[in-house]
Amino acid sequence: MLKTKIAVFVSGGGTNLQALIDAEKRGEIPNGEIALVLASNDGAYALTRAAENGIKSVVVKRREFPSQAIYEKKMKDILAENGIEMIVLAGFMSLLSEDFTAAYPKRIVNIHPSLIPSFCGKGFYGLHVHEAALEYGVKVTGATVHYVNEIPDGGEIILQKAVEILEGDTPELLQRRVMEEAEWVLLPKAVEMVAQKLQKGN
Ligand code: GRF
Repeated sequence: MLKTKIAVFVSGGGTNLQALIDAEKRGEIPNGEIALVLASNDGAYALTRAAENGIKSVVVKRREFPSQAIYEKKMKDILAENGIEMIVLAGFMSLLSEDFTAAYPKRIVNIHPSLIPSFCGKGFYGLHVHEAALEYGVKVTGATVHYVNEIPDGGEIILQKAVEILEGDTPELLQRRVMEEAEWVLLPKAVEMVAQKLQKGN
């Protein structure tokens, strides 16, 4: 069966990358293949995960390029050279311009650790998202997988999953529970959905 070639963009620990690798191994992403891991820095533990699983990886650092346009041109060249058809942003902390996102319409997905449109957009990343949810006092939060367009966290929603907030939660505890109960479950599902659509040419 033909598979959609996927690049996973990472900056940190890469637990979402691991969830994708594990799901692919279990046969849960029959329409996709993780063909490349692109990291924004060489300290990303996600790179070790890629190496351990025999996945090609590359590091592209924004600061090594004189402009956003030249940085993005480099990434586009790498994606083309590797025949990449779909991009997953899994904790990727480097900003992408509208020029980049428009080059891959409905082919870039992101995972965000809240129920969009709550606690998303500018400044809502990492622990800040969970701090904001606890501060507001919501009783339910969760994760969202969405297409990426020019609006931060503003593209069409693909899947969402709710997670209860519990008495005594700290941002760290909540972050972990959202990952375990929602992100690692949702991302492989959404990736298979999009990879399958791309195979059908939708
Ligand atoms: C996750 O919380 C994800 O939702 C957010 O960044 C974090 C990445 O974690 N976009 P990891 O690198 O996958 O462990």
